[in-house]
Amino acid sequence: MKEKLLLILILSSALFAVDGAAVYSKCAMCHGVNGKHRAFGKSPRIAGWKIKQTISVLNIFKNMSKYDKFARVMNKQVSKLSNAQIEAVAIYISKLK
Ligand code: HEC
Repeated sequence: MKEKLLLILILSSALFAVDGAAVYSKCAMCHGVNGKHRAFGKSPRIAGWKIKQTISVLNIFKNMSKYDKFARVMNKQVSKLSNAQIEAVAIYISKLK
């Protein structure tokens, strides 16, 4: 019983090792602390976006080889993020209201 509890503790701390809020702190200057700002007057308001939607868009920006100047901005933001960081920030954004 004790072993099981310990295992659960270890697993859950691994899951939450990446802090979505910390990742988002770099996004906030353009998207706003609450995700309600339209970055450069161009981006949609991203607060409350579904996790899957954000992950898929961030991966598109990450993997793109051709981009206009706005997409280039986002490509720079996400190109160094790991999958775990992308997931964590997507979860964080989904909770913004
Ligand atoms: C330097 C400013 C800047 C920063 C920092 C920034 N973004 Fe953006 N973001 C933009 C701009 C500009 C667009 C619009 C891009 C376009 O339309 O091609 C955008 C678009 C988006 C979109 C919407 C894409 C769509 O489908 O229209 C999402 C989601 C997003 N950003 C998430 C993030 C996340 C998460 C971070 C932090 C890791 C971040 N951004 C950091 C400027 C920024």
